[in-house]
This record gives sequence, structure tokens and C-alpha cells, in this order.
Amino acid sequence: MHRKYGPIIRINPHELVIKDPDYYNELYVSASTRKTDAYVHFLAGLNLGEAHVMTVPHDLHRRRRKPLEPFFSKQGIGALEPVLSSLTRRLCDRIDSHKGTSKVIRLNNAFYALTGDVITRICCDEHPDLIEDENFSPSWPDSFKNLSLAAHVVTHFPQILIPILIAPTTLIDWLNPKYKAFRESEAVMRQHVARAKAGKAEGRTYGEGHPTLLRHIAHSEMPVSELDDTRLAREAQVIISAGVHTTSRCLEYIAYHLIEDEKIRFQLQRELEPIMAGYPEKVPSVSQLEKLPYLSGVVKEGLRMADIAMHRLPRVSPEVPLKYKDWIIPKGVAVGMHPRFMNTDPEIYPEPHKFWPDRWVGDIDPRMDRCFVPFVRGSRDCLGKNLAYAELRTVIACLFRPNGPVFELFETDYTDVEPIHDYVVGLPKLNSKGVRVLVH
Ligand code: HEM
Repeated sequence: MHRKYGPIIRINPHELVIKDPDYYNELYVSASTRKTDAYVHFLAGLNLGEAHVMTVPHDLHRRRRKPLEPFFSKQGIGALEPVLSSLTRRLCDRIDSHKGTSKVIRLNNAFYALTGDVITRICCDEHPDLIEDENFSPSWPDSFKNLSLAAHVVTHFPQILIPILIAPTTLIDWLNPKYKAFRESEAVMRQHVARAKAGKAEGRTYGEGHPTLLRHIAHSEMPVSELDDTRLAREAQVIISAGVHTTSRCLEYIAYHLIEDEKIRFQLQRELEPIMAGYPEKVPSVSQLEKLPYLSGVVKEGLRMADIAMHRLPRVSPEVPLKYKDWIIPKGVAVGMHPRFMNTDPEIYPEPHKFWPDRWVGDIDPRMDRCFVPFVRGSRDCLGKNLAYAELRTVIACLFRPNGPVFELFETDYTDVEPIHDYVVGLPKLNSKGVRVLVH
């Protein structure tokens, strides 16, 4: 469409899309530059409206997001490292235990289990121990995939969910058993919210309990009006969903390339050799791992190419008009830009669809960092990007360590990871069973 109609297109009566790398930082701006509202119709039907992600007005979004930011800052994530290290080691042990057997492992499930166990431990006291399930709890990826597949329908026909919201849960589970894991998580979150609030009311400090996100919010300066049980349960559910599908998809995408291309794998393993010498007793820290240039290149190529957020991610300027070249865009109009056009711009990334970690090593064209937007930019950028980087680096380093398990792809090719469907998140062909491997 852009080839035919140019860099700015009105794709429906209410929305514009722009394809122009020079405009990205003008649209996705920080709160100090300009207010940014969410687009009211985007995913409105998902009934998650009270979570900060779905909050339309700029100021209320800031008020809801601000207390969460320290928890997901680099320092905040540093405090969660022991959890990440021990779960990663557990995942690797579980995978190692299949060495030499004929058991086919679905890495998709394994990575969902890891990221699900990490983020649920971060959010609340109860956690489902997904890694311990013999098949890495396949109901979780099923549940999230089902939600993604519904995204466009509920965006355009939000009323469709009304009967579902008032129907008895037994009926819902019968009609759609794959949604059960997500639905049940709300009750767990509500119980935890109630406990966190009761703890505060009894005069207990935040430090006295396990440091969960919900306990952190309950003890934060957030106004009481924002501490409603349902709102906080929704908040946690959204953060869990945002934290699971995204990172696990990216891990799966990277793992495919590392298994498939031994030159890349060997180069990574040469770099990892000194730092992984103490494994399993010692899992390297995230700050050690971020100093490894080739590992960073591997992770960035995964983030660049996996199209985790494939959607146009609309933004609205509520108070001032926007200007794009000669066009004045009235305030209140939704404008989006597809991250894919930035992340795979052939002028910036030669052979943009080649997984090529070396492109990030050494002196790089500064435009590469400018165009690299897997986490979007501005006041509504990804809250969990530090956590995502920590998970990606730790899991890849431990799983693909020198002398670690040797994987053989089982009935898997690139079409099992190649993002070809935009369900807000990018998905590969819909009948894919994901990356399946044998372990030697
Ligand atoms: C590879 C991993 C990840 C990628 C590529 C990614 C990407 C993104 C993108 C593009 C957005 C903007 C969505 C929009 O504009 O509508 C976003 C938002 C968000 N992400 Fe992530 N994400 C990742 C991992 C995570 C993790 C691990 C968490 C867990 C905390 C998380 C939590 C969130 C939240 C809460 C938002 C909404 C922020 C807001 O509206 O203020 N993400 N993410």
C-alpha cells in the first residue's frame, strides 16, 4: 500500500499509518515532549480497560504506570535475578534430562513455562510451576494463542464478549477450554491483592512480604481509587500476558536459528566459554552477559526479526495537532507506524531478513540503533524491556552453553517461526506445532 499511495495513508475513517523512519521519534514521544493517548478502539473489547496498558487518557496512564516503573527498572530487575537464574537452571536441567531419549520437546512450551514461571513469581505469591509439568504445561501457550486469535474480532466487535462475561464459568470452560488457564488466573490475582492490602492495613511494611508487583502496588503512593481489586487483578493479568508470549516467542525464534546454523552457534559458544565455565553452580549475572557483544547481536537479531509486536500500534495526540511533512494531522486522530518497517529497513540493515548477529558487532552504523524499535518508544513503550533482555540473555547463554545439550530439529523448518500473521502479535503459520527438538 505504501508503495502505491505514499508514506501516509488513511486506512479507515479514523486512523492513519505512516511509513517513514525519520518520523518515528516524532510520533512515539516521551511524556515530557507531548501527551499521548491510547487509541480508544484498540483492543477495547478485551475487557481489560482498567489495566494501565489499556488506559486511554495520557495523565491517568502516567499515574497508573509510574508506580510500576521502579519494579521493572534495571535496578528492579537486578533484584529479581536469583529467581531468573534458578528457574533457568531448572529449565536446562529438565531439558538435559531428555538427552539420548526419543522424546520430542516443544521448545515453544518450554519457553512459555519459563517466562510464565518468572512473571507469575514477579506478580504474586502463587505460581503455577509450569516448568515442572512433564510437557511444560501446554495449556498456557494454547490459552494465550487463543486470546491473540480473538484480538481483531474483539477490537472490531467488542459487544461479542458481553455474553461471555456474564455466562457461567463452567459454560465458558466447556465452550473454550483453551481459555481456562487465563480465566483462572484472575481469581488467583484477586486473592493476592486482598492479602497484600490486608497486610498493609495490619501495618506490615512492603519489605516484610515476598516482594511481588501486586504487594509493591498495594504499598505504593497510588491513590485508593486506583487500588480496586478487579483493576489490580486485571493489571497483573495483562502484565503476565505481555511478559509471557513476547519473550517466549523471541526465545523460540532465536533458538531455531542457533540450532539450524552451527556457524552462529559455535561462534556464540566460543564467546560464552569463559563465562559459562562455572555453570551449573554459577549462572552468570545479567550485567556480565550484557558485556558479550556476540550474544547481544544474537538477542538483537531475534528482537529485530521475530516481529513480536506486528501491529501498527496507534497513538493519539489529544491536545495538539501533529505535523507530518506538509500534512497537518488534527488532534485526536489515531496514527500508527509498523515496527516491522523500521526493524527490517533494507537501507539500514543490508539483507534485512538474514539472521546475522555480526551486523551488531564492532563499529555499527548509528542508524541501526535508531531504527531498532522492537519495544516501541515514548511514554507508552514496553514496560518489561529490561526483564525481557535479562531473560533472553540468561536463557540463551545457559541453554546454548558450550558442552550443553545438542539439539536436533524435529519436523521443523523456518515456516514454524517465520512471523506471517498479524494478530497484534506476530504469529507463524497457524497450524505450526512450533520448534520441536530431540536432545542429544
Ligand atoms: C521480547 C520481549 C518483548 C517485546 C518485543 C515487547 C514489546 C512491546 C511493545 C512493542 C509494546 C508496545 C505495545 C503498544 O504500543 O500497544 C509493549 C508494551 C508493554 N509491554 Fe512489552 N515486550 C516484551 C516483553 C515484555 C515483558 C517481559 C513484559 C513484562 C513485564 C512486558 C510488559 C509490557 C507492558 C506492561 C506494556 C504496556 C506498557 C504501557 O502501555 O505503558 N513486555 N511491549
